[in-house]
Amino acid sequence: MSQPIVLGIETSCDETAIGIVQGRTLLANVIASSVEEHARFGGVVPEIASRAHLEAMMPSIENALIDSKLSLSDIDAVAVTAGPGLVGALLVGVASASGLALGLGKPLYGVNHLAAHVSVDFLTHDQPLDPTIALLVSGGHSSLLQVDDITQTITKLGATMDDAAGEAFDKIARVMQLGFPGGPAIDSLAKSGNATAINFPRGLTTSQDWETRPFDFSFSGLKTAVARYLESTPGYAKADVAASFQESVVDVLMLKAIAACKESGINSLVIAGGVAANSRLRAVATERCERAGIRLRIPSPALCTDNGAMVAALGSLMVAAGRSPSPTAFDADSGLPVTTVAL
Ligand code: KG4
Ligand code: ZN
Repeated sequence: MSQPIVLGIETSCDETAIGIVQGRTLLANVIASSVEEHARFGGVVPEIASRAHLEAMMPSIENALIDSKLSLSDIDAVAVTAGPGLVGALLVGVASASGLALGLGKPLYGVNHLAAHVSVDFLTHDQPLDPTIALLVSGGHSSLLQVDDITQTITKLGATMDDAAGEAFDKIARVMQLGFPGGPAIDSLAKSGNATAINFPRGLTTSQDWETRPFDFSFSGLKTAVARYLESTPGYAKADVAASFQESVVDVLMLKAIAACKESGINSLVIAGGVAANSRLRAVATERCERAGIRLRIPSPALCTDNGAMVAALGSLMVAAGRSPSPTAFDADSGLPVTTVAL
C-alpha cells in the first residue's frame, strides 16, 4: 500500500505556507510571505498578517496541489499549526484546515509549531529522528529540548529568559539599520567581518550559571553590550560588529547544546528553527559535534525558516505512529507549550 499523503498548513506568523508530504517524501512546499508589508514597521504586525493569510490561503493550497500533481481527493490527512504564534494568524490556518478536513472527511491533526520545526528534519535525513536533543532557535523561541518521541514526548531542558536568538538578530540589525528580518542580513554581512574583533559577552556562562541554569539562554546583556559599543565607537566597522555579535550567539548556543547531549547521554543533536539557517551556526555546529562524537542534523536552510512542509512532516509522523487525530473543533492556542505536541 502506498504511504498516506498529508497536507500541512502553517500560518503562525507572516508566512502562509502549505506543504504536502507522502511518507517522508516532500511533494510540495508553497510559501506566500507578507514580510514586505511588515518591513517598514520593523516587525510583524498581527492584523496585516491575518489579512494576508486570508488572501493567500486558497491560492497557496491550489499551487501546492499543482506542484504535487494531486487533487484534493488524494489527500489522506490534514495537519495544521495550532500554536504557538499570533492568535489571529493561527485562527485563519485552523479554520481553513478544519473546513478542509471536514469537507474531505479526513482526519485533522492540530500540531505544535515548535515540534514541527524539529520534525522537518525527517524529510532530509534517513535515520530515525528520535531520541535526540533539539536546539530550537527561531524568532519567537529559543530552547533546548529532549525529544524522546517527536509524536508525543518532548521535555524542555531550558529556554531563553529574555529574547529569542532570532529576535536578538532582528533587534541588532534594526539598530545597525540592516533591515528586517535581521538574521539573514547579519549572516551575510558577518562573512566579511572579523568574529574576534570585539569580545562581546556570552550570556549565562559563568560557573554559577552552569550550576543553576545550564540549559537556559539570555541575550539581553549581549544586546546591551552591542548597543553600548555602537554608541561609544564612532565609525565602527559594521561587518566586525555583525561577526562578533553572531559569534557570541553561536558560541553560547553550541556550548549549551553540546552540554545537553553530554548530560543526557543522547549523542544526537537536531538544530531547527529560522536561526538554524545561519551559516556560522551550521559551520560551528558541524565542527564541534564532530569533535564531541555527536550525530548532528540540520535541515536545509529553506526548511529551517517557517514552512508548510514541517507541519505536513509532523502530521505524517503522527499518522505513521497511529496517533489519534485532534477533535473536529479546537481553538488555536497562541501560547501552546512545546511539550504539547498535538491537540
Ligand atoms: O522559525 P522562523 O522562520 O519563525 C519563527 O517561528 O519565529 O524564524 C525567524 C527568525 C527571524 O528572527 C530571523 O531573523 C531568523 O529566524 N533567521 C536567521 C537567519 N535566517 C532567519 N537568523 C540568523 N541567521 C540567518 N541566516
Ligand atoms: Zn517558526
